[in-house]
Amino acid sequence: MKIISTPNELKEYLKNTQQSIGFQANQSIGFVPTMGALHEGHISLIKKARKENEIVVVSIFINPTQFLKGEDLDNYPKRDEADKQICKLSGVDVLFFPHAKDIYTEDEVSILAPKVRGYVLEGTSRPSHFDGVLTVVMKLLNIVNPTTAYFGKKDAQQLYLISLMVKQMFMSVNIVAVDTVRESDGLAMSSRNIYLSQQERREALKISASLYQAGKMISQKILDTKIIISKMRETLEPLEISYVAILNRDFELARHVEIGNTLILVEAKVGTTRLLDNLWL
Ligand code: PAJ
Repeated sequence: MKIISTPNELKEYLKNTQQSIGFQANQSIGFVPTMGALHEGHISLIKKARKENEIVVVSIFINPTQFLKGEDLDNYPKRDEADKQICKLSGVDVLFFPHAKDIYTEDEVSILAPKVRGYVLEGTSRPSHFDGVLTVVMKLLNIVNPTTAYFGKKDAQQLYLISLMVKQMFMSVNIVAVDTVRESDGLAMSSRNIYLSQQERREALKISASLYQAGKMISQKILDTKIIISKMRETLEPLEISYVAILNRDFELARHVEIGNTLILVEAKVGTTRLLDNLWL
């Protein structure tokens, strides 16, 4: 596995590697952007990229522009050596590990998230978060120039906005959504789960439980979203709920669940940790 920290070196390396088979078509590049502290969720993205591509690139970059003042930028978990091992064992070809100065300068061009869909839900509690996400993803996609980039369904709004950016900016990368990986008790895996105390870890299970409950109601043909949301809110008590929302795949509020076109999103605070989870129907 090659570890590279500067954009120019990575571009050069990929150009040479991709063309190393001469006159045949370029080899496909699968790309998995991450912020490190890798867990099984990240690994499932990497495995999918490995299965579907000739070259696999993973980036680890704790992107400062997507953290708001007072958030956990300085405490965000870092496990560089373990992450390198995980990447190596997962068959990654190139690990891109840049410093902030390799990615950002001063007085920058930036991408702004769409005015409505970028500033609702997670964008309400974290205004400008998605500006930072889209800006860094645009930069990373331009550096790596992958055939396909892999993102988790767990961060549904992020996935939606990245897909929207790719479409609206006429970018040619293919975006693939990967299912959420959970702990055996249902908690969605997240690099931030390590912030939870034992007691908080137990309370956090209310989040996935509320989604399972919604799924059960839907299987009993209760499709009115108001009824489902109010039951979910009861299950989530006494957590501090940021939102419970039921949307269609275009991120518009839905009155009724429509199988194949519905997304149920929850964000709640457990202690000081914000946790996200969702259910795709
Ligand atoms: P990070 O939180 O490290 O997540 C990297 C990728 O892993 C994202 O696409 C995320 O949705 C996915 N992921 C996280 N937990 C998962 C789980 N339990 N199951 C499946 N996939 C999961 O998301 C980011 O980093 C950043 O915002 C980034 C896109 C890298 C831009 O900085």
